[in-house]
This record gives sequence, structure tokens and C-alpha cells, in this order.
Amino acid sequence: ELMGQHVQSQEKESKLANKLGIHHCTIVIGNTDTDTSSVDDMARATTEVLDFLLPDGEATIAVMGGATMVRVAGAMDHKIRLNRKMLFVPARGGLGESVDIQANAIAEKMAKRTGGKSRALYAPEHVRTETYSLLSEEPDIKETLDLVENASLVIYSIGNAIKMAERRGMDKEILQQLKEKNAVAEAFGEFIDPQGEIVYKLSRIGLRSSKLPSIPHVVAVAGGRNKAEAIKAHIKNVPPHTWLVTDEAAANEILKE
Ligand code: G3H
Repeated sequence: ELMGQHVQSQEKESKLANKLGIHHCTIVIGNTDTDTSSVDDMARATTEVLDFLLPDGEATIAVMGGATMVRVAGAMDHKIRLNRKMLFVPARGGLGESVDIQANAIAEKMAKRTGGKSRALYAPEHVRTETYSLLSEEPDIKETLDLVENASLVIYSIGNAIKMAERRGMDKEILQQLKEKNAVAEAFGEFIDPQGEIVYKLSRIGLRSSKLPSIPHVVAVAGGRNKAEAIKAHIKNVPPHTWLVTDEAAANEILKE
């Protein structure tokens, strides 16, 4: 038995996984938009999924940023370590977020809470093409990016496109463009329309969704009724071995049609 009493019936989990075309979903009860205890449950359920999936021995975990990931980091403890030597690496640079919810901060927090190690990825977001090629060749950046691409597991959240664009203070013109192109979801700095097509990309340094198929374990964490549409769109773009941790509110909304 993987999860405790805060999880929905396995039947609903398989139904949702089927509908989304992935192998596994975990659904916690409630609506993480409004219930803080559901957010804690989702964070805890995520650490249990990680504990279940991670190999023994050495494991590199690539992490993204956001408020959800902060909560997941907060739910981690030494229990998850078991016999592992864990290294947490940010999958991308800042993406324009405030420092405390950037992937760098999450990787560090997860390492601290599990007794593991972390690395930082300091890569500015808006650079010219020639600067980008130079930066990607910087030994320190290159090393971190190699670790990311060879990670055992990647963990991230999915956001609402417009909400994310606003939070990151993106230009009015780009915001307008996102609306025109009907962007509904964002993850990895990629803005996606309801068909799962990428309509806009942020930051050229770091992991892209196109690399997910080669990462052994992919864990996406996103819940709340408000994220249902974003989750549905984003999952169209991920490999079937992606494990979604979500809540009842999002699951019911997705299963409705
Ligand atoms: O890219 C997706 C966002 O990082 C999700 O952010 O967890 O704050 O909703 P959030």
C-alpha cells in the first residue's frame, strides 16, 4: 500500500490515468486551491511517490520551481533518504520568479531536508544567442546541465499560462500574444495551448519537455480546480511514464467531459 487515507480510490486514479494517457496518477482528497490541508496531503503524497520510484544508492533529482514545489520540499524529511545518496539539481534557471520559489532554492531546500546535496544553476533568462552559446559551454553550467539530462527523476509543477506570465512580469505584448494563441498551461518555461502545442518558450537554458522521454522517472505535481485545464493540456505533451500527483478537484473536472 503506497498511500494512506488521504488518497482517492484506486479506481478513480486509474480512470484519470487512462483518460490522460499516462500510467499512474495519485489523487489526494479536497481542492488544493482552497484547502491548505489538501496541499499538505499532495506534498506528502509526492514524497511517497518519490520514495517509491527512486533507485537505491545514488540518485540525481532534477527539480523545477514554483509554490507547489516549495510545499513538496517542505514535506520532505530524512525518511525519504533511506540508503540513498541524493543530489538535487535545478532543471532550469530563474524563469523570472522571485528567489524563494526558484528551482535553485527548491533544490537546496530539498537537499537540506533529506540530508542530500544540491547544485545551483545560475543562468540568466534573457540573453542574446551568442551569449547563450558561450554560457552553455561554461564548465560549471555544462556540468549541471549534464546532471539534469542524466537525472533519475524530474519533479515539477504545472501552472496556468496567464497567471504564470503575470507572476513573472512578462511584457504586455507577450501576454497579449499568449492570450491570442490561447495558451492555457506552463511548465519548463513552455507555454502550451489546449492541444498541447508549445506556443511560446521562456529561457533557453535547462530542461525542455522534449527531453522527458529519456528521464527514467517523471513526476508532475499540480492540483486545484483552477489548474484542471492546464493539467489536461500539459499532459498531452509528456511521455506515458509521467506520474501525476493531483487532487480530487482537478481530477473531477478532468473526468467530467
Ligand atoms: O511552471 C509552473 C509553475 O512553476 C507552477 O507554479 O506551483 O506556483 O503554481 P505554482
